[in-house]
Amino acid sequence: MTDYPEDVYTEPSDFDVHTLNNLGPLTGLAGIWEGTRSLDVNPKAEGPEKQVFVERIELQPIDPQTNGPQLFYGLRYHTHIVKPGQIETYHDQVGYWLWEPATGNLIQTLAIPRGQVAMAFGRAAKDDTSFELVATRGSEMNGICSNPFLEYAFKTIEYRVKVTINTDGTWAYDEDTVLMIRGKTEPFHHTDRNVLTKVAEPTPNPLART
Ligand code: HEM
Repeated sequence: MTDYPEDVYTEPSDFDVHTLNNLGPLTGLAGIWEGTRSLDVNPKAEGPEKQVFVERIELQPIDPQTNGPQLFYGLRYHTHIVKPGQIETYHDQVGYWLWEPATGNLIQTLAIPRGQVAMAFGRAAKDDTSFELVATRGSEMNGICSNPFLEYAFKTIEYRVKVTINTDGTWAYDEDTVLMIRGKTEPFHHTDRNVLTKVAEPTPNPLART
């Protein structure tokens, strides 16, 4: 992250506004997806609970985003998860997936309604079909912030997500959220995985529609 220019204000002017053509390793994630080949392992007083779930995730392209000379292409996402046959939300998550072509840096931001946010970093080349991102509690860049109750009872020390884009057009994720639970000495691995199948195409970003 040190190869940045002295001029931190001037924005690039000649970039392509068609986000869907410039998502690099995130290309295979754009769209609306559903998945049931899932497994959640979550903490309960009596021990780890294993649960299959039904997920719907929307990943929609956003306009290219600049910070001065820095340029990101990305997707805004919303994940909604229920238990099979139920209405009640089991897990909800929003954020962005971002790719910086100039550096190969990948970012996932996530916010969940437990009062928790995180930003995970990774790297991938344009045509990579698998990549891993990590957030670590205490980091000033790829950190995790939790509300005071979670800090007290379920301290989240690491979050890791591995994505694999499959040749049949599906994609899969494998997550490990490491919790230090009050009263326990060993970390708890709150893991989640799923395979997602496309149910609708993405909507091109606003600038690509002009
Ligand atoms: C597919 C993804 C996920 C699913 C289905 C899921 C589901 C769950 C469930 C069912 C619980 C137990 C809730 C309870 O007993 O009240 C739980 C706990 C927790 N989850 Fe997740 N989770 C997911 C991802 C994440 C992620 C990405 C994070 C943070 C980076 C996270 C953070 C936590 C924390 C801190 C707890 C402990 C709080 C508690 O047990 O009440 N989860 N999760």
